[in-house]
Amino acid sequence: MLTATTDHGVSPRIARPASSPGASRNWWRDAVVYQVYVRSFLDSTGDGIGDLAGVRAGLPYLRKLGVDGIWLSPVYPSPQHDHGYDVADYLDVDPVYGDLEEFDRLVAAAHRLGLKVVLDIVPNHCSSEHPWFRAALAEGPGGPHRALFHFADGRGAEGEMPPNNWRAMFGGPAWSRVTEPGGEPGQWYLHLFTPEQPDLNWRDPAVAEHFDHVLRFWLDRGVDGFRVDVAAGLFKHPELPDSPDPEADERTRDSVNPLAWNQPEVHGVWRRWRALCDEYAERDGLDRLLVGEVSVPTAREHAKYVRPDELHQAFFFHLLGAPWDADTFRGVIEEALRDIAGTGSTVTWVLNNHDQVRTVTRYAGEGSGPGNPGLGAARARAAALLMLALPGAAYVYQGEELGLPEVVDLPDEVLTDPIFRRTGSRSRIRDGCRVPLPWSGHASPFGFSSGAEEARPWLPQPEWFAEHATDRALADTRSFWHLYRDGLQLRRDLPQLGEGTLRWLEAPPEVLAFERGDGLVCAVNFGTSPVPAPVPGTPLLASGQCPDGTLPGSTAAWWVTDPAPR
Ligand code: GLC
Repeated sequence: MLTATTDHGVSPRIARPASSPGASRNWWRDAVVYQVYVRSFLDSTGDGIGDLAGVRAGLPYLRKLGVDGIWLSPVYPSPQHDHGYDVADYLDVDPVYGDLEEFDRLVAAAHRLGLKVVLDIVPNHCSSEHPWFRAALAEGPGGPHRALFHFADGRGAEGEMPPNNWRAMFGGPAWSRVTEPGGEPGQWYLHLFTPEQPDLNWRDPAVAEHFDHVLRFWLDRGVDGFRVDVAAGLFKHPELPDSPDPEADERTRDSVNPLAWNQPEVHGVWRRWRALCDEYAERDGLDRLLVGEVSVPTAREHAKYVRPDELHQAFFFHLLGAPWDADTFRGVIEEALRDIAGTGSTVTWVLNNHDQVRTVTRYAGEGSGPGNPGLGAARARAAALLMLALPGAAYVYQGEELGLPEVVDLPDEVLTDPIFRRTGSRSRIRDGCRVPLPWSGHASPFGFSSGAEEARPWLPQPEWFAEHATDRALADTRSFWHLYRDGLQLRRDLPQLGEGTLRWLEAPPEVLAFERGDGLVCAVNFGTSPVPAPVPGTPLLASGQCPDGTLPGSTAAWWVTDPAPR
């Protein structure tokens, strides 16, 4: 009989041996990394904004959850127009998050707990407050700092029109016009995101040299790798010609302007960065990871970024973008395994991040509205078990382990996402997945701001966050938290999970079933009616109740086909 259980009953026969020598060279290949959105994780100062000391205080919680490491969203000094993805200084920490000493304490504490630390790095653009950009503005046309960005004269008799028709990701034209030092309207500069995020010109060698220095600075402080922001960006077509279809460029990231993204020259940067990381790995036998945010239309294009001498990994967003549908999920998984596995990398699965509507809400119905929250939660639990059973690595976004729904009704006046300001659109805004985490108690700040009952988190937490607080989640063995914890524990214990391949099993329509290694089965029922368990066996873990050898709708389960001998 297949039943939900939190008792894994893992037999010594299938337990994985204690970590083997050499594992540190490939630790990332099947790692589960927890994404910490620092502003919203835990606030140690009571100012309503999460910080590095808060992250350090939360490490035992993450250790208990069983992840292998953390990825920190950007903590560099920044005017925060895009919450740190507008970097004013790549070699320091913003005082709102702490300082370099606190950063060092965090890395040391994480390492003591056996957790890796992956830092976000933002090479496509910097902040308009970065000294390079300020110098470029002060110099006027032709100045040496202008060459570090994309400055160009406008079109039209007075240069009053942008140099080309490119659109920015967050709405509006991708160009802004500056006022020259003499006070007259002047050149234009390129920004694929907001005007406060000028794009760097990677054709100028000084840019690459600076980033070498930045990587070494943080690697020397002990970080285990980098999450590379906008890794399909950096290079633009050298002549900056008009886009053939600017409307499409604005609509979706996968159809973005082919002249502004995914240029062949970008691969040279990843080879350079990989060589630099490998140099560190050769010194002490410990791989330094480069995991890229690569948004390109096809898995085949994606695979180019993870060739053996480029990025180690790149987030595979097609699963995140897939609607709740068995055929679509299967297609995405097959495509990833076919195209990525051949590169020497492993697929990097992701269901949630700080830019997307959370799964519980996304799977609850149409659009980003609340839909049917119970259904969304059941599907999100099933998706989690599916993701953790797939070959490769996985990323878990903070709050995912609490089953946090999106906060869909934040009032306009508290919204901070530049997408809202630049497009007036609520449908794409990212504030709803960034609301500070609830840790304990019955009222905001729900333990988020330590020692400050009256602290006001930077985004307001709804009352219902109490139901998802970590203290409740830990106390309830049926919670999302226990499902993630048990799944992560099994990933460590079972040699079949993590890296490797999968074999699809016969299953009814709307059900996906596959075997990992010898006898470990994962099945997901995407439909609404129960089906018989695809194979008989010993249950290990299920995302919901599975009575009488069935797999109910919106449920996933793992089991071993050959019951372990007692
Ligand atoms: C990436 C980040 C996103 C940011 C953008 C610009 O997509 O994930 O949060 O706004 O890059 O840096």
